Amino acid sequence: MTRYQMNSKHAGMALDRGVQGVLGRPVPRIDGIAKVTGAATYALEHPVGNLAYGVAVTAPVGKGRVTSIDTAAARALPGVIDVIAGDGSLPRDTPVFGRPDAPLYDGTIGSYGEVVGVAIAESFEAARAGAMAVTVRCEAIPGRFDIRDGQDDALATPEGALLPDTVVGDIETAMREAPVTLDVTYTTPTQVHAAMEPYGSIASWDGDRLTLRAPVQLVTGGIAIIARSLGIRPEDIRILSPFIGGGFGGKTATADMLLAAVAARRLGRPVKVALSRRQTFHATYGRSETIQRIRLGAGPDGRLTAIGQDSLVGQKAGASAFFEPVALGAVALYAGANRSFTTRTAQVDLTARGPVRAPGEAVGMLGLECAMDEMAEKLGLDPIEFRKLNEPSVDPSTGKPFSTRRLVDCYDEGARRFGWAERERRREGDWLIGHGMATASRVNFLAKATARVRLGPDGRAAVETDMTDLGTGTYTILAQVAGEALGIPVEGIDVRLGDSEYPSGSGSGGSFGAASSASSVALACEDIVAELARRMGAASADMTLKDGHAIAGNRRVALSELVGASPIEGLGTIEPGSNSASWSQSTHGAQFAEVAVHAVTGEVRVRRMLAVFDCGRVLNHRTARSQAIGGMIWGIGYALHEHAVVDPRTGAYVNRDLAEYHVPANADVPQIEVFFIEEIDRQANPVGAKGLGEAGISGAGAAVANAVHDACGVRVRDYPITPDKLL
Ligand code: MOS
Repeated sequence: MTRYQMNSKHAGMALDRGVQGVLGRPVPRIDGIAKVTGAATYALEHPVGNLAYGVAVTAPVGKGRVTSIDTAAARALPGVIDVIAGDGSLPRDTPVFGRPDAPLYDGTIGSYGEVVGVAIAESFEAARAGAMAVTVRCEAIPGRFDIRDGQDDALATPEGALLPDTVVGDIETAMREAPVTLDVTYTTPTQVHAAMEPYGSIASWDGDRLTLRAPVQLVTGGIAIIARSLGIRPEDIRILSPFIGGGFGGKTATADMLLAAVAARRLGRPVKVALSRRQTFHATYGRSETIQRIRLGAGPDGRLTAIGQDSLVGQKAGASAFFEPVALGAVALYAGANRSFTTRTAQVDLTARGPVRAPGEAVGMLGLECAMDEMAEKLGLDPIEFRKLNEPSVDPSTGKPFSTRRLVDCYDEGARRFGWAERERRREGDWLIGHGMATASRVNFLAKATARVRLGPDGRAAVETDMTDLGTGTYTILAQVAGEALGIPVEGIDVRLGDSEYPSGSGSGGSFGAASSASSVALACEDIVAELARRMGAASADMTLKDGHAIAGNRRVALSELVGASPIEGLGTIEPGSNSASWSQSTHGAQFAEVAVHAVTGEVRVRRMLAVFDCGRVLNHRTARSQAIGGMIWGIGYALHEHAVVDPRTGAYVNRDLAEYHVPANADVPQIEVFFIEEIDRQANPVGAKGLGEAGISGAGAAVANAVHDACGVRVRDYPITPDKLL
């Protein structure tokens, strides 16, 4: 058992020798063939026998009280088995989902589309017909559906928040005294989770034990939430989540899991509940709209004396304390003695506002990085030069040292590869061509993670942890880590994930998954390496593991021979320690975009994008690049497309499917290039990787927006930049 707490710099480990040469290599996903052939089972595909199907019944008003729920017509339909609605038997809501201290349904409605019941039938079609035949009568009362209406009684940032208010110096005075100032407001709209795999789960009971087959990013955390909601013991819940089709912060504990569990218990048979895309938008959480006031003050030399990003965001009335931490990327980014980064929360009667990909940076950098572009223009400086002038040597808000920070190198390498100095604003027929850049920044986290590795008599190794793979490549990178540490080719490693019977991993979220779980696997391998060295009669440092053999001095012994009859087991745990507080840790990058704006229609086409990231060690260059590209594509969507339009009468989303809620399609995505600057970050975690997934989205949309401004001279401060705003 090897346990390491990050209270100091990690000295490095066996895998650092890189003898196997597999870590970092662009190994294709080891689960890729299973996925493209359909052999990989996603939650709703598990072959569970004797299934019944449930479809959620939802609220038809945005705020109010239910006066009656009529289920008679639904019950009379062929195939309908039962309708659970209005009788107080629904479980308690989850703290991540709606109103955590109320039952899922308590007779009141807190937002449009809240779950009020479930119809259960012999087929999905019959269940859907049943759900539609339930009549929910409500007394609607006026709701608050715009955060501006909540401005006057907005809540201050609570103690212990992810982003506490940060106020340094005196920004008001600094703004008055600065020769060059910018004071602008950027807004971003409500955005919703739109992972390719919708939400859905299968529940089955064996006596008092519940098994949930469901897409859950954080298996251990998900169990705690479900246990609390259902009022059962966590040890009586098993979650199976081997494959997940995208999570992005939305797949924790959702209504489908609770409905399936309650229905399965009542029926005494397994129940599958899938949320429709419309229900996914309304009955799970989304990202808050933001109003960001950005203030910048500088001397004529371009050095910032004042920097502020103060925001108003929304929070569902009565829901969990989560709020969109808008300034998370800004707070440690640029120098400036007088600083203000605050968030106020308006209580609204809208679908819960929760974590969506890169909470904070994804939308905060849309505002900050365009304001930086505006300020560079005012100062007559190149946007990169302006940023370099304000590159701090320590965290400018706290004075803490950076663990690693290669941002200037990202600017330089990105500029060189993109051809920044040679860029040319021009017109090609009716198309106006422009270029833009922005900084990417995403805070780096570490989460507690445990993994077990077993080296078997056949020389193969098995990795087991309840860590998940959302499509990010976790299976593959963990095979690479174990393969590198134990000297076994990737084909000789079996990775088993997403089962709560395995040791508790970090789960996937906040871009901490790869580094945290890789560290736990590497630590588990240290146990095995030590035991192999003992059997070889050599010091670990004098032994080489390669191609399934241990080599020490002039002896080369097959691992299968060294292991003997019973497997050698290692257990590794990584834990965050004081390093999280004593070092300022972030992933950085430089984003570049070239766009064409149509002079007549205002249509924007992104022509190419390029980014360079400083993300510590790259565990797999293929999956890392894919993560970055995915984020950058999302940046196109945030700049140009995504906007959940709220109906001001009901608080419902008007565009509640993927035909109307626009995300970039293939034709919207241009050539994208991604490069890395690798510096192993020993203060971050044992494997030295920093989070990458969410860094890709950070700044990507701002680079597009800045390119749009460069092309046509129009500065849109209200996202998304739709053609009407450019004309
Ligand atoms: Mo993160 S909000 O789990 O992508």
